[in-house]
Amino acid sequence: MHQDVPVLTIDGPSGAGKGTVSARVAAALGWHLLDSGAVYRAVALQALDQGLSPDSQAAADQDQLIDISQHLDLSFKPGADGIDVLLSDRIVNDRLRTEAVSVMASKSAAIPAVREALLKLQRDCRVAPGLVADGRDMGTVVFPDAQIKVFLDASVEERAQRRYKQLKEKGESVILSRLFRDMLERDRRDRERAVAPTVPAADAVVIDSTHLSLDQVVEAILQLA
Ligand code: DC
Repeated sequence: MHQDVPVLTIDGPSGAGKGTVSARVAAALGWHLLDSGAVYRAVALQALDQGLSPDSQAAADQDQLIDISQHLDLSFKPGADGIDVLLSDRIVNDRLRTEAVSVMASKSAAIPAVREALLKLQRDCRVAPGLVADGRDMGTVVFPDAQIKVFLDASVEERAQRRYKQLKEKGESVILSRLFRDMLERDRRDRERAVAPTVPAADAVVIDSTHLSLDQVVEAILQLA
């Protein structure tokens, strides 16, 4: 029954503008929105709250991460500023966006059993009238039968600049060179991992947003839809 509901996947590296673009496209189409990065971030946040370290290779810690993913109590609800992410009934929007959570999420996302455990939760978001799914493997693994697939890219310099601006606006103190280095490192990990690497699906339309405005990207995707 899920298969009858249309899905538009928007994959790509961090900072390519997927979040804002996906929200705008979903609103324009009147479809639901899945921010799959928030799912991995929620696993990471719960792991950090339980005292797990992103650098731990211990089998017991990996098992705990897998256990967290299998029992994740996560929900999305319309909120004052878009969508609220609730973890065990608590709104965690802001707590999901810290650099510590970004690092832990990228490391957790490289564990195959974690990804496997999160598949159902993501596929259950495919609800009429349609779904816009934002992530890294939406078109390749989670919704391989999606009707429309987009891969949104931008140069790493541009992505680091955008993220820098975002964090500055939120009042976080950041160093651009460090952000750039961390982004390269995270890109490498996300792109080269053995399971569900961040690569375009064979049938995806690749859009390079380096020199495009937000409106132009949204317009291009709506044309496809
Ligand atoms: O898009 P984001 O920055 O919120 O994603 C957080 C992390 O989760 C990032 O390191 C990549 C990972 N992720 C993933 O592996 N698969 C997805 N579908 C979405 C995110």
